[in-house]
Amino acid sequence: MTAPTPIVLLHAFPLDHRMWDEVAAGLARTHEVLAPDLPVALGEPLPEPALEHAADAVAGAIRATGPGPAVVVGLSMGGYVALALLERHPELVAALALVDTKSTADTPEAAAKRRQVADAVQEAGSVDPVRAMPDVLLGETTRSARPDVVERVTAWIGEQDPARVSWAQRAMAARPDRTDVLRAFDGPVTVVVGDEDSVTGTDAAEHMVAAVEQALLVVVPRVGHLSAVEDADAVRSALADLAQRVHDPVA
Ligand code: MLT
Repeated sequence: MTAPTPIVLLHAFPLDHRMWDEVAAGLARTHEVLAPDLPVALGEPLPEPALEHAADAVAGAIRATGPGPAVVVGLSMGGYVALALLERHPELVAALALVDTKSTADTPEAAAKRRQVADAVQEAGSVDPVRAMPDVLLGETTRSARPDVVERVTAWIGEQDPARVSWAQRAMAARPDRTDVLRAFDGPVTVVVGDEDSVTGTDAAEHMVAAVEQALLVVVPRVGHLSAVEDADAVRSALADLAQRVHDPVA
């Protein structure tokens, strides 16, 4: 019997691997799970901000688990890194889950805004300029009914390294449109989106689904951009199904 394909979970901005804890605990019963902190061990000083560096570092982490490819899962910024990984190391991607993310580049205005935030974080030497992000990352239902989740996400943001937060913003601002990279992929793809995601919502999800012949779309009700935190069971189940499709394409 072949060993199950490892699953790599790439987190959102400005968070770390802990946002995957609940999902990972479920998947780890049957799969090897890797949840690296982006941008991954890049050393000091950090290189030029570019998600390609993060993708190469993730490739190194996958290779360290063994020769085979992995199920690569990225939520938001993690999805941008997943697509960069697919472009640069396609042999390492057995299947792809794009969760609350998009394949397109930023508009010039959005990229400029990111650079402003990166400057503000750098000048403050603290994550204060992004501390209020749970207001946009979490869906309305979570924000109104689950103060514990709001508190947890706020605490995670407060614990991030300002230099890496600023690096990641600049790197995201510089990323190209990778819809064609996605279009060229012939492995199984699942696109997941929270129906209250106001950052990369259903339009972005449908754009990615339209690019791939056999992509599955999973819309998670009553959650926002951090679907994997807000409804870990729904996301875990979508990822387990995707991993199953690697071994049994008609599953
Ligand atoms: C994230 O969740 O990773 C960020 O919201 C991504 C972004 O700003 O595009």
